[in-house]
Amino acid sequence: MTATRVFSGVQPTGNLHLGNYLGAVRNFAALQDSHECIYCVVDMHAITVWQDPAALKQATLEVAAAYLAAGVDPENHIIFNQSQVPGHAELAWALNCVARIGWINRMTQFKDKAGKNREKASVGLYAYPVLQAADILLYKATHVPVGEDQKQHLELARDIAQKFNNDTGAQDFFPLPEILTPPEAARIMSLRDGSAKMSKSDPSDQSRINLTDDADTIAKKIRKARTDSDPLPENKDGLENRPEVKNLINIYSALAGDDAETIIARYAGQDNFSGFKTDLAEIAVSHFGPITAEMSRLMDDKVHIEAVLRDGGARARAIAEPVLRDVYDLIGFVR
Ligand code: TRP
Repeated sequence: MTATRVFSGVQPTGNLHLGNYLGAVRNFAALQDSHECIYCVVDMHAITVWQDPAALKQATLEVAAAYLAAGVDPENHIIFNQSQVPGHAELAWALNCVARIGWINRMTQFKDKAGKNREKASVGLYAYPVLQAADILLYKATHVPVGEDQKQHLELARDIAQKFNNDTGAQDFFPLPEILTPPEAARIMSLRDGSAKMSKSDPSDQSRINLTDDADTIAKKIRKARTDSDPLPENKDGLENRPEVKNLINIYSALAGDDAETIIARYAGQDNFSGFKTDLAEIAVSHFGPITAEMSRLMDDKVHIEAVLRDGGARARAIAEPVLRDVYDLIGFVR
């Protein structure tokens, strides 16, 4: 019972950005030396809101390319897209019958995404967290690297696993998956508004750094990032009520690997942000340059990415099938 398995997923919707990278993808590569890893492009989650089919395909390949560009090894680990493994949908159905409506009603991401128009949201958007639990449990994954914002979904997955184990009397059948949040920078905020998450759905492209932005664009976005008119802080306390400044220091820290105190000390008291921003832009460009270049190289060879996904899909199915068989036996389905 000491074996660990890592599972995580990213939705193929819109452009991948710095927040996805620092909050998730970068961590994926870091975990592969110590764990068996399965990284999924969750296309079935994507369609909980309408996606143009051609754009969905493109975005699916792009997320896979990002995994590869970030250094995930598709031979020793698994990269695949969710819809290639029917077990996700099958287990999700069984788990829909385990999860309680009251649990799902508490999910804040649904409330945020459905907004005022709840009656018009898809049933899939509502059931989204149950599918996410199925993703993880289908492989009996023990660790799930995701950003802070996914904490509630992870707790739900644990509740569902626990209830399934109790209901069927198979006490240790599903391990209770643990969240692995990145040490810092789990929450990268918008460059225009330090109180909003950096998001692919923000109408302003200035609010985020996309993994497909070129060096000039990255530098320009950082130069234009919102700050305030006070001097740079003298210490960490000076970040209070300055969410935009805090966010930039957080990004700097995540990319440069220095802690916030060291960075603050380096710029303490400077009366404007221009020196800080010039340095941050340089760090961001040198960090992302190679990744962006590798992504565009990969995107020129879609056949290769598709082959990676197909091969990963077959290997994922081989892990999933026996688990699903056991689930069906525990439920009492005749087969
Ligand atoms: N809901 C996750 C997100 O928005 C994506 C996701 C779907 C996921 N299934 C998952 C993450 C399983 C980890 C494990 O980021």
